[in-house]
Amino acid sequence: MSREKNIKWYNGCVNRTNREHLNGHKSVVLWFTGLSGAGKSTLAYSVEEVLHKKGFRTFVLDGDNVRHGLNSDLDFSHKDRTENIRRIGEVSKLMMEAGFIIMTAFISPFREDRIEVRNLIPNGDFIEIYCKASLETCEARDVKGLYKSARAGEIKNYTGVNSPY
Ligand code: ADX
Repeated sequence: MSREKNIKWYNGCVNRTNREHLNGHKSVVLWFTGLSGAGKSTLAYSVEEVLHKKGFRTFVLDGDNVRHGLNSDLDFSHKDRTENIRRIGEVSKLMMEAGFIIMTAFISPFREDRIEVRNLIPNGDFIEIYCKASLETCEARDVKGLYKSARAGEIKNYTGVNSPY
């Protein structure tokens, strides 16, 4: 909710239902959550590929990618992770209004942040998908070598190592 009082909501003529009708399908947010290396991005992009080939309008918002642009000012402190998820929740909401099937791939480690996003998105159109993989499994994969760096003390606040999920 804006802190600025002098802002009024403007309703256009074309709404979400109109866009869904044009697309021939509903819009929805599929929110993948889990440890780094659990397979969130792999799953999100795979689901997108399948849906895209079937003619659905899709988009993936991925943690590593979004942190290069929109959220490049944020670090991995609790406060900034919360802000990361809040912004992605808002972007997902906008893109859902635009008629897309959104897949997000963020660790989103804090339940209260995920609940905030769920509350932002109406009609149960937020579907949370927990990518269940143990820390041992993710650490054994260590695709980006970041668990190794975190264990060596080179990265602070690494989820699963010295920051909670
Ligand atoms: S979230 O916690 O704020 O949801 P997000 O999904 O955007 O995290 O980013 C996670 C990615 O950033 C990881 O896949 C990893 O590649 C990278 N990363 C870099 N530093 C950290 C860290 N301290 N904790 C977790 N992931 C990190």
